[in-house]
Amino acid sequence: VTMTTSAPYILAIDQGTSSTRAVIYDHDGRKVIESMKPVPHINNHSGWVEQDPDVIWSSVLSAIAAALIDAQIHPEMIHSIGITNQRETTVVWDRNTGKPIYPAIGWLSQQTNHLADQLRQDGKAGVIREKTGLVIDAYFSATKLRWILDQVPGAQTRAEAGDLLFGTIDTWLMWKLSAGRIHATDYTNASRTMLFNIHTLEWDADILRMLNIPRTMLPKVQPSDAVYGFTENYQFYGVQVPIAGLAGDQQAALVGSMSFTPGMVEGTYGDGAFIMMNTGTQPAKHADRLLTTIAYGMNGTVSYGLEGTIFTAGRALLWLRDELGLIKDVPASRKAANEADPQSNVYLVPAFTGLGAPYWDTKTRGAIFGMTQATGANELVQATLQSIAYRTKDIVDEMETATQLAITQFGADGGSSRNTYLMEFLADILAKPVQRTSDEETTAWGAAVLSGLATGFWKDVDEVQQITTTGRCFTAKMTEPVRQRRLRGWRRAVQAAQSFQPQAN
Ligand code: G3P
Repeated sequence: VTMTTSAPYILAIDQGTSSTRAVIYDHDGRKVIESMKPVPHINNHSGWVEQDPDVIWSSVLSAIAAALIDAQIHPEMIHSIGITNQRETTVVWDRNTGKPIYPAIGWLSQQTNHLADQLRQDGKAGVIREKTGLVIDAYFSATKLRWILDQVPGAQTRAEAGDLLFGTIDTWLMWKLSAGRIHATDYTNASRTMLFNIHTLEWDADILRMLNIPRTMLPKVQPSDAVYGFTENYQFYGVQVPIAGLAGDQQAALVGSMSFTPGMVEGTYGDGAFIMMNTGTQPAKHADRLLTTIAYGMNGTVSYGLEGTIFTAGRALLWLRDELGLIKDVPASRKAANEADPQSNVYLVPAFTGLGAPYWDTKTRGAIFGMTQATGANELVQATLQSIAYRTKDIVDEMETATQLAITQFGADGGSSRNTYLMEFLADILAKPVQRTSDEETTAWGAAVLSGLATGFWKDVDEVQQITTTGRCFTAKMTEPVRQRRLRGWRRAVQAAQSFQPQAN
């Protein structure tokens, strides 16, 4: 592969659930420009989340164009393009026309719950867990793909004839950027489909048979630091730029935060939160209450990860703002929490859509315990922020038990990581230092790192480590007796919420 080594910039595309970002970095790792385009959802049915794949693609083009214009960077100055993306979201399109046959089904979408239930009833949980590392759930791509093939008339036959292609968003974008030359994905994205065998690193023939999914639809799976191909001239300003470096967004956060050592954990705090642990070159063995996944494939080896999901994190702050009107905006939550009575014993269990890892409880709903006449808005805001830290602690404990590895440092990125009250309380509750990234866009930086390493823009991980800036480190200040008392209170609150059945009468 010949490349223009003089081009001074890496372009990272971060295609997320609610927005697309194009971020350009220079050789010193400095962010030169970032541009963001919101991406709408189609909400036609309750519990469904769909998006228009062509709108997602347009948002990418538009974000790239805005970044280039605003920074006055010529497309020829882009050395390579790295991609990171919302994971699991499923697209099926016609390989001849390039038209999607159905909207993209989002990772949050519940429309295939019945298919997941069916797989569980058929006793497939063990085999799926063993092969994919995942718990059977509508969250992953497999049932979404099956659903599209069932829903669109003639789709199964067209798929079998080789006319339809499947992809997660990374695959869709590379196919578009290359005008149909690249149909590929990386290990991290493949590991979220529930179709990929994380041990053999191949699409799993048994699972494909189980779900009647034609093998020809599936993309080629490559390492995260691969060169996938090049942009087609007319799709990228007449230049052929390498498309190189790719990882799902939570995995990219692990890379961007330089969490390359087993035992390192990175938490990305957005509307939900995803806590990802690097477990090294072997998948964790006793991790039934967490997801086993591929952390990255780099330098010819695959590293595995354990992941815990918190459904409601920053989303709870939106609830305080929009439904309760307790804060004027999300940043105001910090001041409110700092002004709350520090002795307040209010606990909020943020089970608005059940509780994710390690509970995997879809039935429990939110609850607030321990209010007195003195409990005011500030105390409720404080309890909400604290709940994000407690939910993290639940997952971190499970990770340490499952791997027998001590987590020495916990990294945090994402929008809510900018809330210093949350970071301080998190360090207190974990009794570990919390290292916040200097920039909340750690995912984009992770994609840029993979891209630069893939194309020789940067020599090796050491070089990248030197130019990655870290942010503030928060250390635990709480005394051990107070921490234990608080944790006991939290556990009692979760148990009480779980034993309350709103539908019981
Ligand atoms: O698994 C879903 C995750 O990849 C979505 O991330 O940041 O787009 O909400 P985000």
